Amino acid sequence: MAPMEGVTGYIYRNTHHAFFSGQDKIIDKYFTPFVVATYTRELKSRERIDILPENNRGLNGEMHVVPQILTNRSDEMLHMAGVMAGMGYREINLNLGCPVRTVTSKGKGSGFLQYPEALSRFLDEVYSELDRKAASGGETLCLSVKTRIGFENPEEAAALMRIFSQFPVSELIIHPRTTKEGYAGFPHVDVFADIFREYAGRMRLIYNGNIFNGHDYALITSLMPSLSGVMLGRGLISDPGLARFIRTGNAITAEELRTFCQALLDAYKVEYLSPGRGSAGEQVLVNRMKELWFYMGNLFSGSGSLAAGTKAPEGEKRPGVYGDFSLHIKNVRKAGNLRDYESAVRMLFANCPITGCADGLKDPS
Ligand SMILES: Cc1cc2nc3c(=O)[nH]c(=O)nc-3n(C[C@H](O)[C@H](O)[C@H](O)COP(=O)(O)O)c2cc1C
Repeated sequence: MAPMEGVTGYIYRNTHHAFFSGQDKIIDKYFTPFVVATYTRELKSRERIDILPENNRGLNGEMHVVPQILTNRSDEMLHMAGVMAGMGYREINLNLGCPVRTVTSKGKGSGFLQYPEALSRFLDEVYSELDRKAASGGETLCLSVKTRIGFENPEEAAALMRIFSQFPVSELIIHPRTTKEGYAGFPHVDVFADIFREYAGRMRLIYNGNIFNGHDYALITSLMPSLSGVMLGRGLISDPGLARFIRTGNAITAEELRTFCQALLDAYKVEYLSPGRGSAGEQVLVNRMKELWFYMGNLFSGSGSLAAGTKAPEGEKRPGVYGDFSLHIKNVRKAGNLRDYESAVRMLFANCPITGCADGLKDPS
């Protein structure tokens, strides 16, 4: 499961794991949304709660969670890596993918991709120190990297890959879009495939981007059968049963989605509404659920607002958003309070069948 700030916090991850991964380990790894590393400042309490080991075990301790760190300074990175190691984590992930301007303008996330020399120095300092610690009997910590293929231009990918391949990156997760592209258009599957051809023998490569249904997954794995893995983001939030469907052919049912949503709502109620937990309140709770419905709405329409939300190439027609069931989805997304939210969700499940998400990828050939 991809890290998604504001979406895949520990409550979501635990609930998802209980319903759709569990002992079958359908999901190999859950990545946490990024934690900001700063040398002087402690973790924010929200970030700490999200990565505390006791919040990340799953029902029987079988959930594998990888915390993600955002920084462009090796001293901050190593400090935070030490904090994570102290909590018992043995694998951490570096965020080189975030395209949000407030992050990239500081040269962090995918903003760091603009400075290959500094990036190379950073990786050298971090991996050397991790190596040194492991060699001197300290903890062994694997560092994976999640990246885009460039800042401005997909052609930057070649130079970036030459950098990454010089280090013991435990796995390289690539979202084949540039920072500038944000989430628009289709991912450059062809660029990923070129990288795969050249580097798959040397490093674990993970594909990430626009896998919204089984068909998208089949396309990627048919192009690259020996791929080490895929990371699922928006597609998995839209269809929480997507990974299970891919692994077992067992598709999510409306009843499963309904009980999953109810369990999430109940868990968020404990977080946001119980006394002594501050008064984030009902509005935050409702907003949190509505954000999920931004994605899950796609499952009912078959018309794919995810695909529709990305810019269609010129001349291509995309189906409308939310198909015939727009009213019910809209009511969920418009709900101003908990009562309206719960009643809109009831109406949605009573009236709308699940149809599955539209394709997110198209065959590059
Ligand atoms: C709302 C949102 C929040 C995200 N937060 C993070 C994050 O904290 N760290 C990160 O590496 N990527 C983040 N991403 C990027 C996703 O992990 C993923 O790379 C991207 O959505 C493409 O994959 P997908 O097409 O499967 O969704 C975020 C994406 C979205 C839409």
